[in-house]
Amino acid sequence: MNKMKAAVYEDYGPPEVLYIKEVNVPRPKDNELLIEIKASAVTDSDIFIRGSKLPFLTLIPFRLMIGVFKPRKPIIGLVFSGIVKEVGKTIKRFSPGDEVYGMTGFNLGAYTEYTCIKETDSVRGCVSRKPNNISFEEATAAAYGGSLALQYMDRGNIKKDQNILIYGASGTSGTIAIQYGKYLGANVVGVCSGKNIDFIKSLGADHGIDYTTTDTFENNATFDFILDSVGPFKTSNLKKECKNVLTKKGKYVSIGDGSMQLSSKRLDQITELIEDNQIKPIVDKTYSLEEIVEAHHYVEKGHKRGGVAIKIGHY
Ligand SMILES: NC(=O)c1ccc[n+]([C@@H]2O[C@H](COP(=O)([O-])OP(=O)(O)OC[C@H]3O[C@@H](n4cnc5c(N)ncnc54)[C@H](OP(=O)(O)O)[C@@H]3O)[C@@H](O)[C@H]2O)c1
Repeated sequence: MNKMKAAVYEDYGPPEVLYIKEVNVPRPKDNELLIEIKASAVTDSDIFIRGSKLPFLTLIPFRLMIGVFKPRKPIIGLVFSGIVKEVGKTIKRFSPGDEVYGMTGFNLGAYTEYTCIKETDSVRGCVSRKPNNISFEEATAAAYGGSLALQYMDRGNIKKDQNILIYGASGTSGTIAIQYGKYLGANVVGVCSGKNIDFIKSLGADHGIDYTTTDTFENNATFDFILDSVGPFKTSNLKKECKNVLTKKGKYVSIGDGSMQLSSKRLDQITELIEDNQIKPIVDKTYSLEEIVEAHHYVEKGHKRGGVAIKIGHY
């Protein structure tokens, strides 16, 4: 086991910059786990990293992090699920054979067969026990969408019977935000395009609004909490109206504000909610690692329903 397959890139650009290459399998340090990756995901973050299509003022700090003229790290991918293959001498929380899921943070490197990660949280990732009632592919949607949804929803201190609105309810984080809102006992309205209204209702939304045909809210509509779960680059006339329908003490939170926290404690909470059947992560499509270009094209269109997984290896 010296070599592994990876999707790599050497230049920023369209999905076609990604290609498959054999690279060395990493070796875990004393404080690291070696994980055999079973699934990764193509996220919006990966699309930004690969394509670097961002407004100029956002692009500068972003490129300082990932490489100014060329990518600093040839393997991208922020999300993984898999099996612990080896543990370093000081590892306490995990043993070989454990099924885990998490995120790689600044280390990236999940579009491949093996990765090393510390068991303690840092900007270089977080790892936790995978929920035992979902697939490896679903676990990638749970890690990314769940971490985002819970982090930003918890800013709202949502209470039973409050009215909340999830703008962008059909994405990876939106689908989990709907379910988490219902779990907290709120009345949940979701905003998405017409084709997804029945889908978000099937996840528990009490009502759906189609942003492609609706520009304003009904006269008496007010919300105690609004989550924009698609960030600043996806908007509509209806989104511009959102801040006008907050109650006096209501709160508007965008998933684009601040940084995503890489927290194994939050992953543990997501595991509990999933195993308790309160939340089900949604996978729209699954591609193989060899289909990475196609997967990036699909996600770049901006209309995935839930997450898009990359199945890695054979199992
Ligand atoms: N703060 C951070 O550090 C951080 C870290 C990672 C990610 N993020 C951000 O988190 C966001 C979450 O990504 P995600 O994967 O959950 O969702 P996503 O991929 O951004 O959302 C996909 C959904 O967006 C909907 N959509 C497309 N255009 C829309 C519009 N104009 N108005 C409303 N909905 C629209 C689509 O629904 P329809 O097909 O029905 O239109 C689709 O189901 C991303 O924007 C990402 O940049 C932030």
